[in-house]
Amino acid sequence: MVPSMSSSVLPSILLSSPPKGGGSRPGVDLRSDTVTRPGSAMRAAIAEAVVGDDLYGEDPTVLSLQEQVAALLDKEAALFVPSGTMANQLGLRLHTQPGDDVLVSEGAHIKWYEAGAAAALSGLQLVTVGAPEGAGLFSAAELHAVYQPRRSDHAAAPMTLLCLENTHNRGGGRVWPMAQMAAVCAAARELGMRLHLDGARLWNAATALGCSPADLSRPFDTVSVCLSKGLGAPAGSLLCGRRSDIDRARRFRRMYGGSMRQVGILAAAGCYALQHHMARLGEDHEHARLLSAALTGLPGVQVVQPVETNIVLFDLLPGLPDAATLVSALAARGVLVSAFGARRIRLVTHLDVDRSACLHAAEQLRSFLQTAASALPVSV
Ligand SMILES: Cc1ncc(COP(=O)(O)O)c(C=O)c1O
Repeated sequence: MVPSMSSSVLPSILLSSPPKGGGSRPGVDLRSDTVTRPGSAMRAAIAEAVVGDDLYGEDPTVLSLQEQVAALLDKEAALFVPSGTMANQLGLRLHTQPGDDVLVSEGAHIKWYEAGAAAALSGLQLVTVGAPEGAGLFSAAELHAVYQPRRSDHAAAPMTLLCLENTHNRGGGRVWPMAQMAAVCAAARELGMRLHLDGARLWNAATALGCSPADLSRPFDTVSVCLSKGLGAPAGSLLCGRRSDIDRARRFRRMYGGSMRQVGILAAAGCYALQHHMARLGEDHEHARLLSAALTGLPGVQVVQPVETNIVLFDLLPGLPDAATLVSALAARGVLVSAFGARRIRLVTHLDVDRSACLHAAEQLRSFLQTAASALPVSV
């Protein structure tokens, strides 16, 4: 999810270039890993997909994708849905009753970017855990600090669900260290809570830690994963968990308008992405480190934290132009980035930006920022 950008600031070269996917194209789009376009091999897989009516449970490609992803996460079942937002919202709906409190991390996608769905669709209140500087991570002690036990007078909303996000988007792609995640999940279990993981970028977290997606999914009742971020598919997410939960989620998917028909067309892209794009995610992480290294030490620029996956956040200290100015100036040079606050910029690497594209973007950023800093009366 990125702030919207009007087409007037997009260089025409980006708007008119034909989709290539999996490689270079004119301009460098670092706004999000959702901007990738399917390449010819993925398009061929889509064209050849064997399909059926998925609401009847008859689309073989969807069934195969669901089995593959459930196996990857070591869960009993998986459900294909159009978006990560729907996968998360099904998870929330499954584990709660209207009026419950759901604990989410500071900066959680569920709170910031899902259009108020937790309240609108499930009647939930979101309570944040952790400090802003935690980048989406927190400790068992911080969880205990916000937890309200049930009371005999029923004055407190039941806190029934804890959601973690791994990697954490607004935290700059931070990965939960295994031991910390295990301790927080164990604390939540002791408090009687259920557990949902927003794993839109779980694949990146597993790549960074050198472990399996199943290792990172184990403590959770449900896990949402996306095919349309680092894996480069045009759409599609899955909610994974116990078979009984996934069967119930099927009904809510229908209720939310997410049941589809010959959607093996999309699932085929997902199967292709799992097979061909998972193993290369480390390259995106390397490219993000390259961008971060180019920014480090520039006057007035503060890289928010060491890069762990495919996201770089940096702040423009007072004195330098603000984020909106930098976004426009870079767009005019053919490099698209996102404002992530008045003075914060986000860069995301992905399948459609190779090393040379990142080196070019780094050079454009450096030259803009160095010029901006040198124009100031006092050094920032
Ligand atoms: C952490 C996280 N969760 C969920 C989503 C939602 O995915 P979608 O845009 O497919 O609804 C995103 C999208 O960027 C995300 O970054």
